[in-house]
Amino acid sequence: MVPCCPRALLLPLLLLLACPASRASQNCLNKQQLLTAIRQLQQVLKGQETRFAEGFRSMKSQLAALHHSVARAGPDSPPVSCPALNAPPDGRKFGSKYLVDHEVHFTCNPGFRLVGPSSMVCLPNGTWRGEQPHCRDISECSSQPCQNGGTCVEGVNQYKCMCPPGRTGSRCQHLAQTDVNECELYRQEGRPRLCMHTCVNTPGSYRCACPSGYRTLADGKSCEDVDECVSPQLVCPRGTMCINTGGGFQCVSPECPEGSSNVSYVKTSPFQCERNPCPMDSRPCRHLPKTISFHYLSLPSNLKTPITLFRMATASAPGRPGPNSLRFGIVGGNSRGHFVMQRSDRQTGELILVQTLEGPQTLEVDVDMSEYLDRSFQANHVSKVTIFVSPYDF
Ligand SMILES: *[C@@H]1O[C@H](CO)[C@@H](O)[C@H](O)[C@H]1NC(C)=O
Ligand SMILES: *[C@@H]1O[C@H](CO)[C@@H](O)[C@H](O)[C@H]1NC(C)=O
Repeated sequence: MVPCCPRALLLPLLLLLACPASRASQNCLNKQQLLTAIRQLQQVLKGQETRFAEGFRSMKSQLAALHHSVARAGPDSPPVSCPALNAPPDGRKFGSKYLVDHEVHFTCNPGFRLVGPSSMVCLPNGTWRGEQPHCRDISECSSQPCQNGGTCVEGVNQYKCMCPPGRTGSRCQHLAQTDVNECELYRQEGRPRLCMHTCVNTPGSYRCACPSGYRTLADGKSCEDVDECVSPQLVCPRGTMCINTGGGFQCVSPECPEGSSNVSYVKTSPFQCERNPCPMDSRPCRHLPKTISFHYLSLPSNLKTPITLFRMATASAPGRPGPNSLRFGIVGGNSRGHFVMQRSDRQTGELILVQTLEGPQTLEVDVDMSEYLDRSFQANHVSKVTIFVSPYDF
């Protein structure tokens, strides 16, 4: 950068000047030649001087620029950086600048999950905000599914809980059978009834069972009677009628009373008998039931009483004057004390159960209705009611 030193040019000049004037004629230049040489040297020097000056100017301007830029930079402070970070084992790190305010992000390889923050920031004091995270194996047990002190055992895509004594269930969520019998618990007074019929304790739980002839409803605790009579197979012998009862069925064959010389009955429907017309002069015949009908009822045990079980009404034929008075009564059967028969309106009487019934049992009660026209006896009708009481309250 600095122009070459002109010392190489000065040396011949000094030799020329050193030449003594007396010997100038031979080896030394004459005056004219000397002046020419000096002028040439002067021009050389001038050229050198110009190039020197240009070099210095360039150097000065560069220094000035440097000075300017240094002066413009803020107050002197060493750049702050945070310690280098590594990617967590089984994971990756994004970001390689550890200067203030720079962030570094972390992810985990497939099959692992990040425990800790997903990013860290370099703070002005040269420390990282946040703890460096690590990657943990994603396992079925990592959600800690086992409760109550159960131990999680890793399987293929599933886990198994080893339960401590007294605990059971897939997550040890249930008390084991030895500990609590739900059925016993709910048998106590004031508790809601767990099952309509039988409560069966199971490990950690319970289920309801229904007696034979009943099915368990969708709620898991109610029992519903099975109607055997609608089964496609015939359940009753030919000639008999199937009556569904609580938990079972009965085969019945209603029979008309035996006839005698003056009186005879004919079956007009499976459940009805009618008396043939009486001889003109036979008064006793006219007092025998004109119709006998058969009725079958199925009841649960322990029905709340009083309760009306059966109604009986007159049916006068069209065009004929009907009875203007009716009388009702219980005329037979094996259980009179349980029932009363009373008139409920002008046309109707009803059979009322007044005593609680407990099954299993079968009761029979015969009720009759006598028709009067202007106080004169007209006819009498009998209903034979058979009641099947189931052993259960349902
Ligand atoms: C650095 O700064 C943060 C927040 O300003 C602070 O919580 C932390 O204690 C500091 N660390 C040190 C070593 O000074
Ligand atoms: C049957 O009829 C005869 C007369 O035909 C009569 O004497 C008798 O009392 C009647 N018996 C009954 C049970 O009605």
